[in-house]
Amino acid sequence: MEDKVYVFDTTLRDGEQVPGCQLNTVEKIEVAKALEELGVDIIEAGFPISSPGDFQSVVEISKAVSKPRICALTRSVEKDIDCAAEALQYAKLGRIHTGIGVSDMHIKYKFKTSHENILERAAKAARYARNLIDDVEFYCEDAGRANLDFLAKMVETVIANGATVVNIPDTTGYCTPDQYGAKIKFLKDNVPNIDKAIISVHCHNDLGLATANTIAGLQNGARQMEVTINGIGERAGNTSLEEAVMILKAHHEGLGMHTDVDSTKLYGMSRMITRLMSMPVQPNKAIVGRNAFAHSSGIHQDGVLKHRENYEIIDPKDVGYPDSSIILTARSGRAALKHHVERLGVNLDQDELDEVYKKFLHLADEKKDFNDEDILALLGKEGTEGGNVEIKEFSVNCSSEQHSVCKIAIEVNGELKRAEGEGNGPLDATINAIRKIISRGDRLEEYLVQTVTGGSDDYGKVHIQVSKDGIYHYGFGADTDVIYASAQAYLEAISKL
Ligand code: KIV
Ligand code: ZN
Repeated sequence: MEDKVYVFDTTLRDGEQVPGCQLNTVEKIEVAKALEELGVDIIEAGFPISSPGDFQSVVEISKAVSKPRICALTRSVEKDIDCAAEALQYAKLGRIHTGIGVSDMHIKYKFKTSHENILERAAKAARYARNLIDDVEFYCEDAGRANLDFLAKMVETVIANGATVVNIPDTTGYCTPDQYGAKIKFLKDNVPNIDKAIISVHCHNDLGLATANTIAGLQNGARQMEVTINGIGERAGNTSLEEAVMILKAHHEGLGMHTDVDSTKLYGMSRMITRLMSMPVQPNKAIVGRNAFAHSSGIHQDGVLKHRENYEIIDPKDVGYPDSSIILTARSGRAALKHHVERLGVNLDQDELDEVYKKFLHLADEKKDFNDEDILALLGKEGTEGGNVEIKEFSVNCSSEQHSVCKIAIEVNGELKRAEGEGNGPLDATINAIRKIISRGDRLEEYLVQTVTGGSDDYGKVHIQVSKDGIYHYGFGADTDVIYASAQAYLEAISKL
């Protein structure tokens, strides 16, 4: 009998902490519902005390989702725990995730206190939370660098005070798989009450080892893994859900573990997160990258055609990877477009589909190869142009000898406004023209252009970061004309100020 591994998804908490990945409550509900369909066991929905928006998202996700347990993060502080309990009041199944730093480094330099004091605070927080809810997870922050005996003492203490799950995060992504696995084994072997709680693994990817460490932790007795879609998260990210799930599936005989995740939904889920968070996945990313199942060398193509398993350890269908048999061209109908849009995790009503279809036909005339990235860029462009600001006319003249000039017409709340801007290049001219219509006193901090699939006829994706009074906002645009995409991105960013 295989052991079940609980999948704890923290895309909406650890993942969403990344600058530029912030979602609004409606988008978070969309993600939470998709995670429910995917089959995760726990959704970490936010850190309620951190902002009214996070609080509201935990409330709304608790109402919208019923199968997975909804979890809310706190520090080991009573007001945080009260706030989390209040945000979880509508959850059918709720969990409070409280904790504190346990490494010598955190105790000395972050809390500037003693080990005894940290143990007392931890015990108090676990007890306090357990009086409010029957499911309490305790995180031992920076466990990856903590003293083992102290970590064991901490785990024993919080379990004795009501923790039902103990999280052993490698917060800084420091451990190697051997070290991390040994840490979990040490706790299994040395904490007297360990059988009263589930051990959870939470790994960061600073050394590219998050997935390997997660599996090592499971092999040594952990039965919950904390993961994010596409591995998004602080710095180099968290363990990627799709990688960990597929490792357990591909090696289920050897490892003897399984999850309840429906792997055929992994690709759609990944696309949804890429789209909503405007965070592209590297092409060679395992499981969900554009090239994950692409065979380009003649020898490999020949081998796959003779027998797929010659070069594939996973059937692309098992992760919902694109069915290339329905190819989109300028002659495709709405049904083909709808098939692909839904496969990518986006649902459109008839009017939205008609609108996207019009844009698709226009772009399909310009582009020969139309692939998933193009469809998503098309949908992203929809989002960018939505709302009450829309570019109606746009032209830029630039040459290396003279100043560039941009002429733009923007509809703002139904009123058409025109302006002309000059600059030392096309981007500068465009921003100056927009600022004559909408001026927010912002500063452009970051500007990034990426291709989607390659080729000079490709879409360019533009990410822009602006700041005002120390607050940063991101905007995103996509078009075959990168300067037009820049105008979209800039408008989106300043509209958030
Ligand atoms: O990485 C970490 O330690 C965390 C905790 C807050 C669980 O994200
Ligand atoms: Zn983390």
